[in-house]
Amino acid sequence: MPSTVVVGGFFGDEGKGKIISYLAQKDNPEIVVRGGAGPNAGHTIEDGDKKYKVRMLPSGFLNKKARLMVGPGVVVNPDVLHKEISEFDCSSRTFVDFNCGIIEASHLEADSAGRLKEKIGSTGSGTGPANADRAMRTLKMAKEIDSLKKYLIDVPGEINTALENDKTVLVEGTQGTFLSLWHGGYPFVTSKDVTASGICADIGLGPKNVDDVMVVFKSYVTRVGEGVLENEISAQETASRGWSEVGTVTGRQRRAAEFNFSLAKRAILLNSATQIALTKLDVLFPECAHVQSFEKLSEAAKSFVTKIEDELNVPVLLIGTGAGVGDIIDLRT
Ligand code: IMP
Ligand code: MG
Repeated sequence: MPSTVVVGGFFGDEGKGKIISYLAQKDNPEIVVRGGAGPNAGHTIEDGDKKYKVRMLPSGFLNKKARLMVGPGVVVNPDVLHKEISEFDCSSRTFVDFNCGIIEASHLEADSAGRLKEKIGSTGSGTGPANADRAMRTLKMAKEIDSLKKYLIDVPGEINTALENDKTVLVEGTQGTFLSLWHGGYPFVTSKDVTASGICADIGLGPKNVDDVMVVFKSYVTRVGEGVLENEISAQETASRGWSEVGTVTGRQRRAAEFNFSLAKRAILLNSATQIALTKLDVLFPECAHVQSFEKLSEAAKSFVTKIEDELNVPVLLIGTGAGVGDIIDLRT
């Protein structure tokens, strides 16, 4: 358990926010650290009647003891970060790596019109243009920004020291495997690799120091923006199945399809997954809403889970049965 890397298995929006939020409270990590692209990712967390949306901070903030970090591979929009720090009152335990790149007004502008927005369906968050400038070595770094001074830290140093001292580190990936710049359906992808290896590189965690890789699959597949979605169902059919969702960052309607076993297999391979978290089982099987033990699932739901394990050969260890952090079946030991 000391280091667990959580990544998305499809096109983002698999429910990583809820899973990370649960793990952050259950496993009590010393550090929750975010890798991934940037504020193009929105993670939603529901706790009781409260609903939180984060785009910069790790989703583990509900654990008030955990230190929250953003790795050097992530591009940061200081406005979004400051807003979240004050909204969630976590100024004293938020840390940003010295070498995080900075999103500026010019990046937001370049991302909000033209090819990226129209052809790729980008989130308009400035993430892609900032990463392009990073590759050109012209991007500003967090250490040059006055308003970030008090948050600056050596993230790779902190997480590796924590692991050496047998502390638990929870690594939060963003987007999903098939939005990876290397492994997704180019050009309809994000501006980074977002598989487990990429996420680890973002935070400076070497491959031999990863204990578990948890891939999160939703019980059906959704995608926002452009690009192929195999076996896509119509918006009307999506609504009638109760699968309608809107994007956290963009408010766009998500496109939907049934669970795709061949994509899932590929995601297991690309991420060297050791564990699966399956979310929104209650959306496929409403009778399973809020259930907290495997035995209490309906037979149909049980066989869906078993089929996933049989086909993918990786254990399903967490099952989401509702939006709340506690709506979960935890099958780890
Ligand atoms: P960009 O990352 O904003 O450049 O957008 C590129 C593509 O990735 C678009 O299709 C976006 O909708 C998609 N995308 C980026 N981040 C996320 C995410 O967190 N969830 C779902 N889709 C995303
Ligand atoms: Mg999302």
